[in-house]
Amino acid sequence: MKEGYIMTENQIKELIKIAVAARKNSYSPYSHYQVGAALLATNGQVFPGCNIENAAYTPTNCAERTAFFKAVSVGVRDFTAIAIVGSPEGDEITQCSYPCGVCRQVMMEFCNPEVFQVIVARSLEEYEIRTLKDFLPEGFGPANLNQ
Ligand code: THU
Repeated sequence: MKEGYIMTENQIKELIKIAVAARKNSYSPYSHYQVGAALLATNGQVFPGCNIENAAYTPTNCAERTAFFKAVSVGVRDFTAIAIVGSPEGDEITQCSYPCGVCRQVMMEFCNPEVFQVIVARSLEEYEIRTLKDFLPEGFGPANLNQ
């Protein structure tokens, strides 16, 4: 049986709202694709993040990693869930925006893939919620180095 923290509908919606607000800060003058994330730590703190692009392209940071790095940089390393919203520039979220492979790997570094919840939302009512393991099966993480 899968153990873990079961989020309520309200908690999920609150997290999506924070991701939607974070998306407004997206700095994406090159792709014009705006992403927002809200990372819920087990201590209850929420870390918003947005994508931050760069004229040299490769230094671009995804919204999910922005949220993770903000948290880790202030000493927070235990996480429950992340909500993600992304769509082309504009107010409307028109589609589900799934985390890229690099962001999945960063999640793998800090989260238990069996229980960490990834919420991909198209609106407050329409979202998919799955574990990190669903998004990154057979992932390589810190535990693999100690086997
Ligand atoms: N992006 C994210 O912020 N998160 C993802 O998981 C996928 C892609 C950003 C990076 C870039 O600024 C834009 O979306 C287009 O790839």
